Amino acid sequence: MDRMTRRTFLGAAATTAAGAAAGPWVLRAQAQGGPVKVGILLPYSGVYAVLGESITQAMELVFARESWTVAGRKIELIKEDTEAKPPVGIRKADKLIDSDKVDILTGPVHSGVLMGMRDKVHNSKTILIVSNAGADVISRERCSKWIFRTSFSNWQPNWPMGGWVAKNVSKEVFLVAPNYQAGKDMMTAFKETYLPAGGKVVAEDYPKLSETDYAPYLTKIKQSGAKAVYAFFSGSDAVNFVKQFDQFGLKQSIKLTGAGFLTEPDVLPAQGRSALGVITGHFYTPLLDNPVNKKFVADFKAKFGGKTPDGFAVQGYDTAEVIVRALKAVNGNTQDKDKLVAAIARTEFDSPRGRFRFDQKSHNVIQPFIYIREVKEVAGGLDNVPIDKVADVTDPGTGCTLPA
Ligand code: PHB
Repeated sequence: MDRMTRRTFLGAAATTAAGAAAGPWVLRAQAQGGPVKVGILLPYSGVYAVLGESITQAMELVFARESWTVAGRKIELIKEDTEAKPPVGIRKADKLIDSDKVDILTGPVHSGVLMGMRDKVHNSKTILIVSNAGADVISRERCSKWIFRTSFSNWQPNWPMGGWVAKNVSKEVFLVAPNYQAGKDMMTAFKETYLPAGGKVVAEDYPKLSETDYAPYLTKIKQSGAKAVYAFFSGSDAVNFVKQFDQFGLKQSIKLTGAGFLTEPDVLPAQGRSALGVITGHFYTPLLDNPVNKKFVADFKAKFGGKTPDGFAVQGYDTAEVIVRALKAVNGNTQDKDKLVAAIARTEFDSPRGRFRFDQKSHNVIQPFIYIREVKEVAGGLDNVPIDKVADVTDPGTGCTLPA
């Protein structure tokens, strides 16, 4: 037995009745030789379908660069469509954890899905790398040793914008966002700096997620007398809101500002010139002048038919990069979860957005910068051009400590 090679050893183990007689250490050796199962829980239909697509594409770009093998183990992706609906997402999370027994889970996009699956992830000790959903409490009261976030907390892109809009745009603003956790979190973060800077919220309104007709809301905005709007919408909601804001004739008299998701490249082509002049805050723009981003933009365009990567794609890139680097650091051993979690927490690298690192207190990414960006016409068409920036934007969450 001692002199058996690993190959003959595994072969011998496989011929025993399903390995049952071979002892737990043999089973472990078999499992370690198998693929690393990565569960991808994202919307591929519904309001946020374009986000799920961008995140997945960039993950695949990184894994393809590694020839789909890391530390000797194949990477196997198991994708499930949440439809951006909490009940569906929670059911699919259960399936990935209980039936597929994934080694690492990533997603979701919708804060409600994340909130709904959080206890299951925590109690089952499933490693979750959140690749979009920003629910603030996941970096705060409801943080978990097993949960990391490569994307943002909802607070991060919005908190710097309150003070900036008060100083540079208007001290009278109308707030509008979809009526669920992410919309509420983002408007709250904006107010944290807008109100102390002397800003006044004229009114706020929360249409349902996936609204298609914003006319009643635009009427209220017009009648409110506000000089500016601060909005969060994303995916098909962002396309509809920005186009209807223009068609309603508000663009000439009221400045539209918001969270970066409002005018990301996933929706900008569909919005067209209606988006010109919109000012938003975000951790990324494809125009960032650093070598990793230049290569990322070029590789992404080459692989996906000329498509410009957006912030969601960067979230997918960084999630895959964290997985690759952490797996290499533990030599592909996914059984020792404490070691894997510690390796994930320590991961640091140059991302298209700048230096990537987790805040050890919250397991949430520290944003190297939040850029204030304005949609302008540039050589390649419309783009989010940075006009200002705020450095090292760290969620105030203090709940989590790096496991021993
Ligand atoms: C969220 O639900 O947390 C969410 C969804 C879409 C975004 C940003 C945040 O663009």
